[in-house]
Amino acid sequence: MHVQQLCRLLTAPPQYVTVAGVEVRPFKDKRDIAGWIDLMRDAFVAADPPMRPWTTADFEKHFLVHADHSPDKIFLAYDGEHRLVGSVALRVRAGRDRQHIPAIHWLAVRPAWRRRGIARLLVAHLESVCWRRGMREIHLETHAGWREAARFYEAVGYLPTHQVTERPSMRTSPD
Ligand SMILES: CC(C)(COP(=O)(O)OP(=O)(O)OC[C@H]1O[C@@H](n2cnc3c(N)ncnc32)[C@H](O)[C@@H]1OP(=O)(O)O)[C@@H](O)C(=O)NCCC(=O)NCCS
Repeated sequence: MHVQQLCRLLTAPPQYVTVAGVEVRPFKDKRDIAGWIDLMRDAFVAADPPMRPWTTADFEKHFLVHADHSPDKIFLAYDGEHRLVGSVALRVRAGRDRQHIPAIHWLAVRPAWRRRGIARLLVAHLESVCWRRGMREIHLETHAGWREAARFYEAVGYLPTHQVTERPSMRTSPD
């Protein structure tokens, strides 16, 4: 499995981004889970390699039990008709010297809403949260075969930090 690691240094407050008719809010409660799972299924339906569909149990294990994740760090983009159209999660890992290492996880936009700036909006929102918390270096991993993701991250300023590496598993499944 080919994994590409990328990083962006924030040197100034992230630019304010808007998309007409689209609003971003944090995950609220368990009622948001089913919509988020449906979004992930829709967004990754054509992913190659494919992603096993999430279940509610996967979600709870990943976001409610995992120490680096929490639902309040999932950001949801809704269109003007209250449809969930995109999402991103911020993972904050404790590093050395009480440092916090932020990372982008599970960025997804429904196919029918792509190329309207929704992922750019979500990532700018996540970066603003990081900036306010004093976090200046944002990391992520993506699958080298996910071309749309590679092009997107390049467009919004993320640079490769490591060579593509072979790894038995990455984020092609919620496991
Ligand atoms: C990657 C993804 C999140 C991008 O979402 P999006 O809302 O369409 O992206 P945006 O509209 O904000 O794109 C911003 C810029 O990124 C670049 N970009 C995004 N998708 C692109 C594509 N398919 N081809 C080329 N450039 C692309 C463009 O420069 C674009 O600006 P432009 O439309 O003005 O040219 C979306 O394609 C997706 O959900 N893919 C499947 C899931 C996935 O791979 N997630 C990432 C896992 S790490």
